[in-house]
Amino acid sequence: MRRGVLALLALLWACDDGDGGRDQRLSAEALRDPAACADCHPDHYRQWSGSMHAYAGVDPVFRAMEAKGQAETGGALGDFCVQCHAPLAHRLGLARTAADLDDLPAHLGGVTCAFCHQVDAVEGSHNNPLRLALDGVMRGPFADPRPNPAHPSAYSPLHDRQELVSSDLCGTCHDIVNGDGVHLERTYAEWQASLYSSDDPLQQNTCGRCHMPGRNGVAADRPGVPLRRVHDHGMAGVDVALTDFPEREAQRAAVQRLLDGALVSELCVVERQGGAEVELYLENIASGHAFPSGATLDRRVWVELTADAAGERVYQSGVVPDGTPLRSLDDPDLWAPGSRGFDENGNETHDFWDVARLESDLLPAPTTLDPLAPDYVNVHVPRRYRIPSAAPLERIDSRVRLRPMGLDVLDDLIGLGLLDPAIRDAMPTFTLGATALTWTREAAELRISPLSGREALCVPRL
Ligand code: HEC
Ligand code: HEC
Ligand code: HEC
Ligand code: HEC
Ligand code: HEC
Repeated sequence: MRRGVLALLALLWACDDGDGGRDQRLSAEALRDPAACADCHPDHYRQWSGSMHAYAGVDPVFRAMEAKGQAETGGALGDFCVQCHAPLAHRLGLARTAADLDDLPAHLGGVTCAFCHQVDAVEGSHNNPLRLALDGVMRGPFADPRPNPAHPSAYSPLHDRQELVSSDLCGTCHDIVNGDGVHLERTYAEWQASLYSSDDPLQQNTCGRCHMPGRNGVAADRPGVPLRRVHDHGMAGVDVALTDFPEREAQRAAVQRLLDGALVSELCVVERQGGAEVELYLENIASGHAFPSGATLDRRVWVELTADAAGERVYQSGVVPDGTPLRSLDDPDLWAPGSRGFDENGNETHDFWDVARLESDLLPAPTTLDPLAPDYVNVHVPRRYRIPSAAPLERIDSRVRLRPMGLDVLDDLIGLGLLDPAIRDAMPTFTLGATALTWTREAAELRISPLSGREALCVPRL
């Protein structure tokens, strides 16, 4: 009975599409505006509107860096940044620099619905080699899309997170090579080298499977559409909006959730005369690429470790007060996975256009489960801390922290008058939940430490 009613509705819907439909077809111009999708796809619109994809063209840090780049290169930077941060405006020939976006409707900035959903081929491996059909057909994961009056639809494996090729759509924009051929952002390359790009369906994981969690629902708020799997378009990573922007709390919570599960940690203590050797291990268990990934020059990730004995703090590394740049710390033991860039004269720089050489020290993603395979990498990464102490250690606390962007990077832009100082105060510092450990003798368990092969007292208990 119910099925009969639904079938009837679908039939009416199809008839509606057949006659009156054509007049409601979104014009090529109307289609460019994500707000035009909101009536029928309200959830997708809401989620996207708070995403970093929506922020990409208005992001004040992006705007400031791009302006610095244009000034320092005398305009030679050209459309390098805009090709990814406002890709539709760029392809339509409407924007060559970020300043051009000021003269355009706001919806032409950012990575928009009409950009992603009109990609019909991937023609390279980095710097946004996506081919756009610009034919108004919305490509998506459904082989049997219900017809609708606004746009034709079509199935596309590039838009189906169950298909390995869907990672090419995301990845090739998430992989940057600068004018000097330096591979600045390598998220796609890292994913390709990882277990998650393997042919084995049990190991495979596409960008979309991790970054677009699914739920049961309707894909369009229209009568007659079936129940399906629909996917989150917030696409959280580690960055959050630093200015007033939709969905800020939801994005921040999503970032925290991702980070909480990204790494695990193990802490082993070997006691010696006059102190202890502490071995800390970090393991990337849930990132489909290195950790950190993306703009690793700007990211700040570090280990905070403190030790107490006889009621006193006897050691600390990586204790960074709020508002203090990580790199202002004088801390020889600091463990801070990330990257540093150098220009052609060997001076350190984080400016994309000046980087001639990149040095990276990241936590890798697993490549294979077979320790004997030639491409095997050990993802259980150790660091040893030597802690002098006359009294026996009572307690050690450690955790991994992350700032999406270094305060030193922001200070540079603020100093040039390109960035509002209020942005600095909005920069969060996250703690990665699963890495927070407290070692005490009572909480620890006796194990053979993987690093030194000696007996050690380790947390967490296994
Ligand atoms: C008049 C309502 C309406 C408007 C406006 C609309 N859509 Fe749709 N769209 C639908 C319906 C209905 C479906 C089919 C849903 C289903 O079959 O479950 C659909 C399906 C889709 C699909 C999936 C196609 C597939 O084969 O997997 C995508 C992607 C899509 N729309 C994107 C957009 C975008 C982007 C916009 C704005 C530019 C937009 N839509 C505007 C009604 C609309
Ligand atoms: C960064 C690229 C990207 C952007 C931007 C984007 N989408 Fe999608 N969208 C996808 C991908 C990939 C899928 C396929 C998910 C899957 O595997 O089912 C998808 C799926 C969909 C679907 C099918 C139902 C679902 O949830 O799987 C609809 C409808 C849709 N998008 C609408 C929109 C609308 C409307 C916007 C803008 C407000 C938008 N999309 C922005 C990449 C994008
Ligand atoms: C047109 C190029 C482009 C495509 C295609 C694209 N992205 Fe992005 N993505 C961006 C840009 C640009 C940003 C950053 C915007 C900003 O913060 O200024 C971004 C941000 C993100 C972030 C947040 C990163 C962070 O540091 O927090 C995630 C996660 C993400 N994208 C995932 C995806 C996924 C998954 C897909 C495929 C479904 C995809 N992207 C497709 C350009 C793209
Ligand atoms: C196995 C799940 C998984 C897969 C597959 C995956 N990611 Fe991620 N991604 C994560 C997690 C967890 C984080 C948060 C921790 C981190 O930053 O690495 C993240 C973070 C990110 C970030 C912010 C990175 C940073 O540290 O600055 C970007 C950008 C991103 N992912 C893009 C992608 C793209 C593009 C793909 C596909 C080529 C992809 N991801 C595949 C799980 C995944
Ligand atoms: C190949 C595409 C591409 C190009 C070219 C590109 N970006 Fe991005 N950009 C991205 C993606 C993808 C992200 C999100 C991943 C991340 O945050 O690491 C991003 C993130 C950012 C962010 C925010 C994240 C952060 O922590 O730094 C800024 C700021 C930024 N880009 C500035 C620029 C500037 C300035 C240029 C030009 C010099 C540029 N981008 C060129 C794709 C690109």
